[in-house]
Amino acid sequence: MSSIVSIKNLFKTYDTGHKALIDVSLDIQRGEILALLGPNGAGKTSLISVICGIVTPSGGNVTVDGHDTISDYRRSRNIIGLVPQDIALEPFETVFNTVRFSRGLFGKPPDPAYIEKVLRRLSLWEKKSERITNLSGGMKRRVLIAKALSHEPRVLFLDEPTAGVDVELRKDMWEIVRDLQADGVTIILTTHYIEEAEAIADRIGIINDGRLMLVENKATLMKQMGRKQMMIELHKPLKSIPDNLSSYQLELVEDGLQLVYHYDVSSESTGITALLKDLNVSGISLKDIQTKQSSLEEIFVDLVKETA
Ligand SMILES: Nc1ncnc2c1ncn2[C@@H]1O[C@H](COP(=O)(O)OP(=O)(O)OP(=O)(O)O)[C@@H](O)[C@H]1O
Ligand SMILES: [Mg+2]
Repeated sequence: MSSIVSIKNLFKTYDTGHKALIDVSLDIQRGEILALLGPNGAGKTSLISVICGIVTPSGGNVTVDGHDTISDYRRSRNIIGLVPQDIALEPFETVFNTVRFSRGLFGKPPDPAYIEKVLRRLSLWEKKSERITNLSGGMKRRVLIAKALSHEPRVLFLDEPTAGVDVELRKDMWEIVRDLQADGVTIILTTHYIEEAEAIADRIGIINDGRLMLVENKATLMKQMGRKQMMIELHKPLKSIPDNLSSYQLELVEDGLQLVYHYDVSSESTGITALLKDLNVSGISLKDIQTKQSSLEEIFVDLVKETA
């Protein structure tokens, strides 16, 4: 896969002196779904705004399919669709016209059949003559997506597309994003919902305090960073952990009826064999054993905490 968006050493310092982006470099691969995760104020919207040419960077540069976002603004912007974080729509315009006008703004010839296709895909066709002001919040979000797709962009940025959206609609949105990917659209989305990144992203980028801390294949990230837990259920409760087991840093929970052992999935030796042997030596009899992989959420919280 070749990259379609190339971000090099990007900095953004706002007039207030706030450093919103610090030396961000990133290549976005053609056809991928990249999720950007990060706490409030991390710099996600700033990054997207710079790529889309809405905010001028203080340093560094971005190219979209080879076009510089500043010196070749129009060509780079034409390739991009943006679904902004804030809902900004003309309240008294109809759904159809909103999307049609947006296409016109990009200098594309009218194509009612294409607009119909987009509206149908987003389940907005029945609402095409409805005024924006009469739509629910979730429907407005869909109109924002339709608007962003009006000029047939090849790269789509979705800035928190499912914030404040119910579970059903969120799953619909995921479906739409997957459909778009199948059509060859590259998708970058920001989200606070870790399960959203887990559900649809190919790669995950984590931003904190203006820095892109890591970008990694989702599966690799979960495997590399993930720690596992082994829960050992005991037949008889233990009052304390025997001295010969101290090196395992076990936790004693459930009124002494369960031991919890944390281990690293990526390390050569997990220590499980030795632990089970030592438990046996101590005369502790086991009832059941379960393991649990730490979630992306736990990985994320650990990472953000480490650098705080
Ligand atoms: N126009 C601006 N002028 C000054 N500071 C700004 C401006 N826009 C954003 N900031 C600051 O830059 C930082 C990053 O903001 P940004 O909106 O990029 O974060 P975010 O990751 O999108 O957060 P959220 O998850 O809340 O949307 C914040 O501290 C914010 O207050
Ligand atoms: Mg934001």
